[in-house]
Amino acid sequence: MKICIIYHSYSGITRGVAEKLKASCGGDLVEVKPRKDYTTLTAYTLGCRRAMKREADPVHPDSIDVSSYDIIVIGTPVWAWKATPVINGAIAALEGSEEKSAVIFVTCGGKPGETIPVLKEALSAKGVRIVGEKVFVRRDADDPEKIGELASIIRSAGNTG
Ligand SMILES: Cc1cc2nc3c(=O)[nH]c(=O)nc-3n(C[C@H](O)[C@H](O)[C@H](O)COP(=O)(O)O)c2cc1C
Repeated sequence: MKICIIYHSYSGITRGVAEKLKASCGGDLVEVKPRKDYTTLTAYTLGCRRAMKREADPVHPDSIDVSSYDIIVIGTPVWAWKATPVINGAIAALEGSEEKSAVIFVTCGGKPGETIPVLKEALSAKGVRIVGEKVFVRRDADDPEKIGELASIIRSAGNTG
């Protein structure tokens, strides 16, 4: 089973989860970054405004070909109760995603709001089927048991998918 773990992380928490998942399930990590970095000020102003409008940032890499993978894992922090404009940009950059299965996860301070539905809608528009999801509040992001739960969702998605 080939797994592609695509994530955005502003302050490192989502990256930590993605790296632990790779250690547990294997797979290739793709960290997506905005072409223009956010500062603390612009993350809370421009970034949140763009997140609320579900806008997609121009990102590196500008194209993510997932055609050779069995499972896509998408991870994002929550900004203003939504997915970040950077992960929206990553989803827009997906190629070969039609009929792929995806597991999504978000990390947040405790208020994920509409982030999961926003991700599901954007991924469905790219022909992706969501087969699992998980929300981590910050303190869970280091908890091996919670990471293990997500890893087993990914493994079982690979077995049935
Ligand atoms: C600009 C900004 C907006 C945020 N908005 C929310 C929010 O609406 N709800 C929430 O629970 N946490 C919110 N957070 C907290 C982050 O989602 C949380 O700390 C996340 O785990 C950070 O992941 P990262 O370290 O990978 O960037 C926000 C953080 C930032 C920087």
